[in-house]
Amino acid sequence: MTDIANKTISQIVSDHYQTARVFEKYRLDFCCKGKRPLVAACEEMKIPVEPILRDLYECLSIEEQQPLFLDMSLEELTSYIVRVHHTYVKLSAIPISNYLLKVAGKHGDRFPYMKEVYGLFVQLINDLHHHIHDEEVCLFPAIRSLEQGIAAKTPGPLSIDRMKQEHEDAGNITMKIRQLTNDYTPPAQACTTFILTLESLKAFEEDLHKHVHLENNILFPRVASLLSTLDPLPVKDYAKIN
Ligand SMILES: [Fe+2]
Ligand SMILES: [Fe+2]
Repeated sequence: MTDIANKTISQIVSDHYQTARVFEKYRLDFCCKGKRPLVAACEEMKIPVEPILRDLYECLSIEEQQPLFLDMSLEELTSYIVRVHHTYVKLSAIPISNYLLKVAGKHGDRFPYMKEVYGLFVQLINDLHHHIHDEEVCLFPAIRSLEQGIAAKTPGPLSIDRMKQEHEDAGNITMKIRQLTNDYTPPAQACTTFILTLESLKAFEEDLHKHVHLENNILFPRVASLLSTLDPLPVKDYAKIN
């Protein structure tokens, strides 16, 4: 048991993707702040590690077909992210905004926090819209070219630090939504749309965590390691070009 407790949370999720749901249950960040050993994260949050370890071992004992992200090429991994997670954001943004608009309009006087949640969600999807566009149009094609050996070492469009900052900004917005809604808990006698809205927001946040985990903890480190193996363009070659 100590072995897994001393691994970083992001490493546990990278090795066993199904464990993401255990970390969601205990509100342990495995995407933006995943590079902490499990035991240290528990100490920081002042929660006991033992129940989490029990849940992790139970989760690991169940045979599940998992996508093998660590074995994928960068082309396959970026395509998976676009196909699964970018598509999810694009398809769910409008329906969730519409639910929120309805709930904020109908119940906003009794539950003013839902008006704030609506504003935050609109900001989140606007930010994600630009972020996803930049990944699909600039960053991911550059990563694929790099993998095929047809790109220069210079990062140029590989603005990975900016992407990580945007992931953190998105995570801060979802955390605020979670706080405002008391962990997506519907008030007593909430109508079906209210309940559905909160369930959809929770699912949206959970998908975002997996999405960011794949980029921050698997894709970007692999790009960094690929860049470190490439020889810089010799100075004399620059001279020839100029
Ligand atoms: Fe993405
Ligand atoms: Fe991203």
